[in-house]
Amino acid sequence: MDKLTVLIGRERIAAKVAEIGRHISEDFAGEPVVLIGVLKGATIFLADLARQITLDVSLDFIAVSSYGNAKQHSGEVKLVKDVDRSMAGSNIILVEDILDTGLTLTFIQSMLRAHQPKSLKIAALLNKVSRRTEPIRGDYVGFEIPDEFVVGYGLDFAEHYRNLPDICVLESGPESE
Ligand code: IMP
Ligand code: MG
Repeated sequence: MDKLTVLIGRERIAAKVAEIGRHISEDFAGEPVVLIGVLKGATIFLADLARQITLDVSLDFIAVSSYGNAKQHSGEVKLVKDVDRSMAGSNIILVEDILDTGLTLTFIQSMLRAHQPKSLKIAALLNKVSRRTEPIRGDYVGFEIPDEFVVGYGLDFAEHYRNLPDICVLESGPESE
């Protein structure tokens, strides 16, 4: 049996997402921005964040494969779905659920730089800074969290729990290890 313990409740998440939306709206005042979500974990954060930004917002998505069904990073990142159009001259905000080792966003960031955007920023709801192996940091970061495996608000374990409204620590029981 999986044990779930709430780490960050829905009210705190909503307040933080509103704050990030305000910062982005101020920083890019008068300019359009493109939110690029990393499928699938970022979808719920992206949907809420987009509605807190008072600018001309367009959306795109990228999919990469890395974790599979394990909790450990495989160390390899592969592009599964690219953005739909050129990002040349755009203000890109790369939206991700969590910055962990940093491998995923380092890979996506260098891919998107090749589009020659006007600017490229990272919005990550969660940050596990103690796990970082790559020299990358978020520009808009929601919460610093300890080195625990979390699920909910988009984050999954083997595709489960993405729909939980709160961010919860997952402790797997013996039979699921
Ligand atoms: P990174 O490449 O190690 O930074 O990993 C980023 C990706 O790993 C995220 O997009 C998540 O999909 C996944 N990930 C990292 N930590 C967790 C966690 O605690 N719960 C669920 N997924 C996680
Ligand atoms: Mg994931």
